[in-house]
Amino acid sequence: MTETATDDRRVPAAVADGAGVESRIDDGDTDATDGLEYEVVTTPALVIGAGAAGARVAISLAEAGLEPLVIGKRDHGDAHTTWAAGGVNAALGSLDPEDDWTIHAADTLTEGHHLNDPEAVELVAEHMPDRIRELDAWGTPFDRTDDGRINQRYFGAQSYRRTCFVGDRTGEAMLETLIETARELEIPHRENAMITRLLSDGERVSGAVGFDMETGGGLLFRSDHVVLAAGGFSAVYDRHSSRDEENNGDAQALALEAGARLLDCEFVQFHPTGMVGDRYGEEWDGRLVTEAVRGEGGRFYNAEDERFMERYSPDQMELDARDVVARAIAREVREGRGTDNGGVYLDITHRDAEYVRDRLPSMVERFESLGVDITEEPMEIAPTAHYTMGGVDIDFQTGETGVDGLYAVGESVAGVHGANRLGGNSLAETVAIGKLVGEHVADAVANDDRDPEVSDDQRALAEREFAALEALAAADGDVTPQELLEDLGDLLWEHAGILRDEAGLREGLAKLAALRERTADLRVDGDLTSRSFEYAVDLSVSLTVAELLLRAALERTESRGAHYRADHDDEESDWRVNLVLSVEEGELALRRRDVGEPSKPVQEALKEGYELDYHHLE
Ligand code: FUM
Repeated sequence: MTETATDDRRVPAAVADGAGVESRIDDGDTDATDGLEYEVVTTPALVIGAGAAGARVAISLAEAGLEPLVIGKRDHGDAHTTWAAGGVNAALGSLDPEDDWTIHAADTLTEGHHLNDPEAVELVAEHMPDRIRELDAWGTPFDRTDDGRINQRYFGAQSYRRTCFVGDRTGEAMLETLIETARELEIPHRENAMITRLLSDGERVSGAVGFDMETGGGLLFRSDHVVLAAGGFSAVYDRHSSRDEENNGDAQALALEAGARLLDCEFVQFHPTGMVGDRYGEEWDGRLVTEAVRGEGGRFYNAEDERFMERYSPDQMELDARDVVARAIAREVREGRGTDNGGVYLDITHRDAEYVRDRLPSMVERFESLGVDITEEPMEIAPTAHYTMGGVDIDFQTGETGVDGLYAVGESVAGVHGANRLGGNSLAETVAIGKLVGEHVADAVANDDRDPEVSDDQRALAEREFAALEALAAADGDVTPQELLEDLGDLLWEHAGILRDEAGLREGLAKLAALRERTADLRVDGDLTSRSFEYAVDLSVSLTVAELLLRAALERTESRGAHYRADHDDEESDWRVNLVLSVEEGELALRRRDVGEPSKPVQEALKEGYELDYHHLE
């Protein structure tokens, strides 16, 4: 790999000094600074994030005989994975025996516009059939064909039916299985714990610090092996498919601050089908209508009743790649052919009602609760920020970040998806790479004979963080974190959304600087257990990732996958590079790094030029 420095820029400052965290534990032991009481916990391996990726890492660790600790921001079992609906990819060939892992890898690279890390892609594609069989054996109730094979459906831009599913609640079912497996292995977990800073001496990570969201007490987790599995940052956008309080960029901000590199933060996936709030109510705005609706034959119509994808993608139609479909919808709306609410229609009424109820039960139920029968009438949808392809730069065999003691996995990282993710590959990545990372960390722990005691320096770092958290909670200005988060979401939607250009991105950066200044007048309404305080912490990390996103989007003067620059609307071969972001001597540095080449078998599959034949669905 070669790296070329392109520019140095200011590192974004945190909202309040130290509005982040790190941790340690001596079970149940409670200590106190002058102010905040805190608990110290020691663990051989700390997994931050309790979704599918974190759970799969922890299972590998436990299978190796270790007792890791998994921590999550919500109640156990309630992680963002539960929102991944339509399916998980594995080249099982249940319905299309021609499919194999090399074609899965080729589809992933093609739709990633060859910005993916080929090794990461191949690891996922090659390992997924085994991971699905493993989940099946552990109890995931995958849909079956009449003769008992694991059923597979079409998903966007995939050459064959490759997406395994549990109705339209695949992520939830997978997570239930992983959590049950973890429970059988007696893996300890801790819920409602928020990490605000990694414990780091600048050389290596030795734990994490945060607070208990229920008691407001401080938490110091001491561990020489910390795995970040805390998701992406799509919720920084006004319209997004995740919950407001998740996917705010915790993992990326924590990793950057601890000295890790990030990659490709300009690549944000806009899922074509988010619910339109003006039609279904504010609380539903941007929430996902699963791609499985289109995988089962759903069609788009504009307000003039045209099946407009015929104009944009006559071969792949509604099942073209998400970036293509999202831009097509945005264009229909922009050119005045959208609904009054700024969306288009997604219609599955031509399918038999019983079939729809069987394949899409959660969608049927959700819309029914809003008084809409989707077997009889279309849904109103518009694109929504759904997934961040950018994230922490890791070695995919090990999860290592380049900072000793710090590993990362899942949506926290960049590499598998390149410039645009194939639907069904995010759940795949969590378990395929999660297993490998867990096995590597288990070896690293086994070969580590360091003393897990908490040093005075570590304690002092943690106590500084606790003091900063208390100061943040006491902020008594005029502007709430929620207001600033809303303004930040609007800013990103307007200036770094589906269509971008230099003037808009520069304006976005100027507005971001102004918004950051307003944080000096922050008011937090409540203590560390309050939602207001949680939003203040979210604001801190969101400002960091927003700046990374805007800077990287400005830097990349081409259009590729999900990053569309109206002022540079071609894909440029010179830009087939990853953008590496790191903090060097207090400044944000952006560098270009060459992308590797796939293996021979995958190159052969790419040459074959496999492509979905949409008309199978007609
Ligand atoms: O549309 C969906 O069900 C989303 C799946 C995914 O993002 O992989």
